[in-house]
Amino acid sequence: MSQVHVVSHPLVQHKLTLMRDVATSTKAFRQLLNEIGMLLCYEVTRDLPTEMVEVQTPLGPTRQPQLSGKKLVFAPILRAGVGFLDGMLDLVPSARVAHIGLYRDPKTLQAVEYYFKAPADVAERLVIVMDPMLATANSAIAAIERLQERGVKDIRFVCLLAAPEGLAKFQSALPDVPIWTAAIDECLNDHGYIVPGLGDAGDRMYGTR
Ligand code: PRP
Ligand code: URA
Repeated sequence: MSQVHVVSHPLVQHKLTLMRDVATSTKAFRQLLNEIGMLLCYEVTRDLPTEMVEVQTPLGPTRQPQLSGKKLVFAPILRAGVGFLDGMLDLVPSARVAHIGLYRDPKTLQAVEYYFKAPADVAERLVIVMDPMLATANSAIAAIERLQERGVKDIRFVCLLAAPEGLAKFQSALPDVPIWTAAIDECLNDHGYIVPGLGDAGDRMYGTR
């Protein structure tokens, strides 16, 4: 079963509570998602490999760590995953970006792909897939399987909220893909929405409802 990391940091939890509030404006919702993206990025990159390099400080030479290996790929699932992207790029500006366009069919709750664009050498890199919502997990699983078809082996998934049903499905479909989430909510409702959740993340980000 894939590992699940719940990020219980008070700053993340405080910002998430603001995001859940139905009275939070579109502008504030986007800003908070961006800020939480940065904080989650810090957690998901905690064990990245480093190598020792020589640097010259004003007081003389020293050997110190710097990130090693190929640049990361951030892979937001459109639309709502884009809300995390700028915050993550602020921390890792050299990362590459893969866009994965999926929407959830409201009747079947199956993910429908409409766009996919990834760096040519994506298979050789660590890919961090991001989407605020893990509800049925159909979208996350479809996105990750698409990357696996392209040969990607090293994948992590970051979300804001997960439903227990989606987590269980994800873990059995993708046992080698670890998950970082800010919270695990109670359940899904009859329409596949996370309860208590925060509503439709894409609509709240872009004011489309
Ligand atoms: C939302 C959300 C996830 C998906 C989660 O996207 O951003 O991608 O639903 O649900 P799932 O786990 O049941 O697949 P949506 O399909 O509403 O598209 P949007 O981001 O374009 O609004
Ligand atoms: N997608 C969302 O944006 N919110 C949910 O609660 C479930 C799927």
